[in-house]
Amino acid sequence: MKIIVTGGCGYKGSYLIPELLDDGHEILSIDTNWFGDHLEDNKNLKKVEADIRNIDTLSFEGFDSIIHLANIANDPAVDLNPTLSWEVNVLASHKIADKAMREGVSQILYASSGSVYGIKSETNVTEDLTLVPISTYNKTKMCAERIFLSYKDKIDIKCIRPATVCGFSPRMRLDVSVNLLTFQALKYKKINVFGGNQTRPNIHIKDISNVYKHFLNDKSIESGCYNAGFENISILDIAKKVQEKVDCEIVISDSNDPRSYRQDSTKLLKTGFIPQYDVSTAIDEIIQKYKKRELIETDSCYTVKWMKSLNIN
Ligand SMILES: NC(=O)c1ccc[n+]([C@@H]2O[C@H](COP(=O)([O-])OP(=O)(O)OC[C@H]3O[C@@H](n4cnc5c(N)ncnc54)[C@H](O)[C@@H]3O)[C@@H](O)[C@H]2O)c1
Repeated sequence: MKIIVTGGCGYKGSYLIPELLDDGHEILSIDTNWFGDHLEDNKNLKKVEADIRNIDTLSFEGFDSIIHLANIANDPAVDLNPTLSWEVNVLASHKIADKAMREGVSQILYASSGSVYGIKSETNVTEDLTLVPISTYNKTKMCAERIFLSYKDKIDIKCIRPATVCGFSPRMRLDVSVNLLTFQALKYKKINVFGGNQTRPNIHIKDISNVYKHFLNDKSIESGCYNAGFENISILDIAKKVQEKVDCEIVISDSNDPRSYRQDSTKLLKTGFIPQYDVSTAIDEIIQKYKKRELIETDSCYTVKWMKSLNIN
């Protein structure tokens, strides 16, 4: 298949693209390269350094699917420049959907977020519950979903709502919970937990990559929104899982982040998807990479810190 991956040089894209190449696909990666380019050259990979806000300058002709990952990808980074964030996360999504329809792309897999639900008291947070997004990031995700879904009579659209992703990628993020807590334990022998009782779902980076592959391989699955999160556990429980593997102390302080939600991914499981990895796998991998000195901490591992330094408009 010929596949466009926007945000191909990001945390998820840098892991996913080599997997897609191994499966024999031809890939066009479109990324501003804000976090560098960690993709090895490959005869079936074309890398274009471009901003999706200017997507009109590129052609989608001949491509089968788009995996749309390029976004300002967390709450504080979105808040640095809300106008830029609405332009990238929402307006550019509209351009992509419209262009895909006009140029004959048959499928879009959009990386939404499990955080669109906001705070939910329900034990089973399924796709039919109302969305009460709290942050601007969450709101951009909800609006982009609605844009994509408005094209579902013309294109196969999957709005995938991933939980917080964990595990190693060549473009490493150390600002997502499991990665952050494991790295703190390794580096400082201390984990700082803010609040700790907020429950959050998790998904391993290999499993979220497999979710995209699952939808690429079976286009008979109905368009719509799909949760993709499997371990609903508290931040404190993640810290305790890390503590079982790394000698460290856990320090708890107050949090101003009220987001607490669980995800029920039964709808995805019913399409035949089977998750294979978990939080413990991610912790083990990060420990191994750190010990082998293959996990190098740089400012670009922390999205908001790095984006502040780039001063993007
Ligand atoms: N990592 C997670 O835990 C998680 C969870 C749920 C959803 N998501 C979503 O998955 C997607 C990928 O997340 P990630 O963790 O890989 O983030 P990331 O920040 O590592 O990757 C995003 C990539 O998009 C690129 N990009 C941003 N704006 C662009 C633009 N205007 N034009 C072209 N490229 C642009 C960046 O340079 C970066 O390489 C995002 O949409 C994110 O919201 C991530």
